[in-house]
Amino acid sequence: MTLTVPTRKPPTTAEPVFSVSGLWKVFGPKPERVPADPELSALTPAELRSRTGCTAAVRDVSFDVRKGEVFVVMGLSGSGKSTLVRCLTRLIEPTAGTIAIDGEDVRAMDRARLRELRRHRAAMVFQHFGLLPHRTVLDNVAYGLEIQGVGRSERRERAAEFVAKVGLAGMEKRRPGQLSGGQRQRVGLARALAVDPEVLLFDEPFSALDPLIRRDMQDEVTRLHREEGRTMVFITHDLSEALKLGDRIALMRDGRVVQLGTPEEIVGAPADDYVREFVRDVPREQVLTCRTAMRPASAEDAAHGPALRPEATVAEAIEAVARAGTPARVMDAGRCVGVVDHDRLLGVVAGVTPEAPTTTTTTQPPAPLPDEAPTATSTSGAAAGRDAAAAGATGAVSGGAAVTGTPGAAAGGDPAAAGATAVVEGDAFAPGGERRPASQAPARGTRGAV
Ligand SMILES: Nc1ncnc2c1ncn2[C@@H]1O[C@H](COP(=O)(O)OP(=O)(O)OP(=O)(O)O)[C@@H](O)[C@H]1O
Ligand SMILES: [Mg+2]
Repeated sequence: MTLTVPTRKPPTTAEPVFSVSGLWKVFGPKPERVPADPELSALTPAELRSRTGCTAAVRDVSFDVRKGEVFVVMGLSGSGKSTLVRCLTRLIEPTAGTIAIDGEDVRAMDRARLRELRRHRAAMVFQHFGLLPHRTVLDNVAYGLEIQGVGRSERRERAAEFVAKVGLAGMEKRRPGQLSGGQRQRVGLARALAVDPEVLLFDEPFSALDPLIRRDMQDEVTRLHREEGRTMVFITHDLSEALKLGDRIALMRDGRVVQLGTPEEIVGAPADDYVREFVRDVPREQVLTCRTAMRPASAEDAAHGPALRPEATVAEAIEAVARAGTPARVMDAGRCVGVVDHDRLLGVVAGVTPEAPTTTTTTQPPAPLPDEAPTATSTSGAAAGRDAAAAGATGAVSGGAAVTGTPGAAAGGDPAAAGATAVVEGDAFAPGGERRPASQAPARGTRGAV
């Protein structure tokens, strides 16, 4: 079986679009006292509630969203995802901390500047369709441009372009009521894209869609991201969606970010027991890559065997090794940087951490890739010329899900309209008795979709 694994771009070290530091959002009476008081800020959520009547939805969170990446915020219902993302454009006012977009202090922006931010620089796509029911598809997509003051003929032209881009050409004259859920989501996506925002913010856009449409829409986002390289912040409570879409994932619990890393780091090196439980059922072979699984190569190893890229998943490596009947070489920029063999690959699947690489068998310097070397992986793109240190990112997983439409707020609607919190459909139980979405953790061994 050939697995199709989306090619990951190298982890970006680009400058941040959003830079968040020490961010707090506390709901309740006199919220400022909570971050200001070390004793209060150290309380558990339940203690804080009973002592002060406050809920700390976001607690001392710091992160950067880098240019061109898909930054996923994930966590169970109530963990603070929506609050966090709404704070970025001050649809919800933060209680403490700093937020910058391209170096500009968001908390210092006046109303006009904020409006500009929401209309032009950061467009939001919500879970619930926020389409204007009496307007056609074209006019819904043009809505954000209308708010921006773009003239009628230009906005219709641009809207038509984005309608086509999301696969709805021919449906321009329909009204939202004449569309399927997935199509409505595409309209919402087109509307957000049409304003050409620097960053797209998605709040659980696909969770209302059925699994097939959801997968379609996930693929759509992946495609748009690949083609346009747009920066995205994507909220989901669905682990498979996070692993599929995220370049990096911030995993939230009770308002805190408990781990921030690539999918491979989250699955391969969970920061604590909570994260470990969270990712327990992920098919590791579809997320972990040769970079994690490889051992140092001997001179003999480096001369033979199929070639894999460091970002090739362990699943791909298993296939290559099984076909060849020999270990496979991991090649980076034409050099053999390691070897994956049966033992290493089995160890990864079994969750047995490979021993730390030793230098005893390492070929120094790494052997060049012979011209005639067979190439066994489907992964493409990023390897050539890649700085090895920058290649810690990850194999991704193919899986499925979808997008959701956004109300007028997407392109600069007013804060109140945009402030509604998404609803979560959870029905399974997570570790610790918390509710957890049923879709979250596929059974080990599930192929194709993590
Ligand atoms: N306006 C508000 N007033 C008081 N508490 C709030 C308010 N909005 C959110 N909260 C609380 O803040 C916490 C985080 O809520 P938030 O909506 O950010 O969670 P979430 O991770 O987006 O959840 P979901 O997955 O259900 O959308 C929850 O405990 C919630 O009850
Ligand atoms: Mg939410």
